[in-house]
Amino acid sequence: MAEAVQHLTKDPSEMDTLEVIYTRRSIRKYRDIPVEWDKVGKILEAGRAAPSAGNIQAWKFVVITDPAKIRMLAEAALQQYWMGSAKVHIIVVSQFEKHRRFYGVRGERLYAIQDCAAACQNMLLAAHYLGLGACWVGAFDEDGVKRAVMMPEQARPQAIITLGYADEEPPVPTKYKLEQVTMIERWKMGQQIKDIAITMGYPSLKVGKYIEKTKEFIGNLHDKIAKRDKK
Ligand SMILES: Cc1cc2nc3c(=O)[nH]c(=O)nc-3n(C[C@H](O)[C@H](O)[C@H](O)COP(=O)(O)O)c2cc1C
Repeated sequence: MAEAVQHLTKDPSEMDTLEVIYTRRSIRKYRDIPVEWDKVGKILEAGRAAPSAGNIQAWKFVVITDPAKIRMLAEAALQQYWMGSAKVHIIVVSQFEKHRRFYGVRGERLYAIQDCAAACQNMLLAAHYLGLGACWVGAFDEDGVKRAVMMPEQARPQAIITLGYADEEPPVPTKYKLEQVTMIERWKMGQQIKDIAITMGYPSLKVGKYIEKTKEFIGNLHDKIAKRDKK
């Protein structure tokens, strides 16, 4: 496995989309300072903007700030007590009845989960962009989570997103290399993808690299001529 993503080197609000994606980390230790409501609102909006099967949006987001309830959720999450330091929890909930009604078994067993997963990832990225730390928590006792917030029978908690200002900078976790997880055109491992642009034959990307090199070359040449003329 390889270190695939870089460390945080600049303010996430100045990053482009790919940088935000590459530098996001799961944060499990938070500072004892409150999270602004407008940031929570933006994160919820990011969840609401996620794609969903047939656009049915059969999700609900339950925002928890009460420290006693946060402790209950940490307890229900198989005693992951680190969750207690997060100032906000968002429980992402699927309403699988609606998925079943629209798409039958596939809707209930697959789309309900995927829709919520898309919302979760959007929220994690929005949190990172807004300078907050977040973690996706999936290991919990569903009944315990439901009891903590009086959730009805036909709702299913899919994830808890913890939120707060990070009090740690975790090491970059190892991720598989691109060539270990990607196959081109058919199911065949061992395709060497050192450079996706070259493998896919994207002329524009390849040409872009040459243009950059040429610019560098001309810049150096310009400096040399300027130095020579000074003499
Ligand atoms: C479906 C799912 C469930 C997860 N559940 C937990 C969890 O219960 N507790 C936890 O600390 N992290 C949990 N995580 C976070 C992963 O451990 C984390 O994403 C992984 O170690 C990679 O680290 P990164 O997010 O910094 O890239 C979960 C992530 C996903 C996608």
